[in-house]
Amino acid sequence: MRVGVLTGGGDCPGLNAVIRAVVRKGVKDYGYEFVGFRDGWKGPLEGLTMPLGIEQVRGILPRGGTILGSSRTNPIKIEGGVARIEENLAALGVDALIAIGGEDTLGVATQLDSHGVKVIGCPKTIDNDLSATDYTFGFDTSVNIAMEAIDRLHTTAESHHRVLVIEVMGRHAGWIALHAGLAGGANVILIPEVPFDLDEVCGWVESRFESHYAPIICVAEGALPADGDLITKDAPLDAFGHVRLSGIGEWLASAIEDRTGKESRAAVLGHIQRGGTPTAFDRVLATRFGLAAIDAVHAGDFGKMVALQGTDIVRVPLEAATGVLKTVPPERYEEAKAFFG
Ligand code: F6P
Repeated sequence: MRVGVLTGGGDCPGLNAVIRAVVRKGVKDYGYEFVGFRDGWKGPLEGLTMPLGIEQVRGILPRGGTILGSSRTNPIKIEGGVARIEENLAALGVDALIAIGGEDTLGVATQLDSHGVKVIGCPKTIDNDLSATDYTFGFDTSVNIAMEAIDRLHTTAESHHRVLVIEVMGRHAGWIALHAGLAGGANVILIPEVPFDLDEVCGWVESRFESHYAPIICVAEGALPADGDLITKDAPLDAFGHVRLSGIGEWLASAIEDRTGKESRAAVLGHIQRGGTPTAFDRVLATRFGLAAIDAVHAGDFGKMVALQGTDIVRVPLEAATGVLKTVPPERYEEAKAFFG
């Protein structure tokens, strides 16, 4: 059996741990051969490959990023894209494919499955917004990075009696903002799921200063004011139709300063929260996903995604993961509000 492996979409810590587990178990227990597809769906679309065996995966467990490279190429949007992938897989003698990715990458995998391509999905995203799995790997690492940033912002904010706004990733789901904000003791957390009222935010800022502490506001890039629009970068849409976000932190700091008269600054964490070595939690989760993915190939149970449910790794239909995004439920946000202001 020859198995292709690809990583698509935004990279995240733990991708290499999955690749390593897939290859190690695949070679040792099943005697499989592997083909590494480069740069997400661009690899099978254009026949871009690299050798993938025990030698290539040695030492990569703690390394961030992905040895295979990634991209946001969407073959479904390209005329004849699916047929080209089928032809390239056949020409390379690839019998099955493991696609490691988030909503977009696994959405393509779902469509390829309906065309008869033998594919297994493995959930990755720092955003933790895939349904059918309790956690995606990468999320824990980014939350820890953002938490550490908030810890550091507290001390400088207090020295200068300033408002500090930290903008974290999260386009449609506020999981990173919620967890990092709670773990870091932010005084306000703003998420895309719950449009915020600027007067209320300013009220929380004022009350924090009254108790002689400086406020830290943790805002997800996709958060938006109740009476305003999403703040986006002036950049073209990507192949999956996503706008480029970032700007809400600066906007918020300036609006708060105008209304409260308190000096306010913003820090945008950006790709720092996606790079570098994975936490132990993410290394273990990614490794377990990799082992389960190659087991699913061996069982011939295609069209599935491996998922964490409780402490067990299970297989779910690909479409169960990509149909609806897993957003922060209102009751989880209500919990966090106990610490606002
Ligand atoms: O999907 C993961 C993610 O990190 C989002 O949180 C963020 O909006 C997006 O990727 C950024 O993508 P890019 O690195 O392509 O700008």
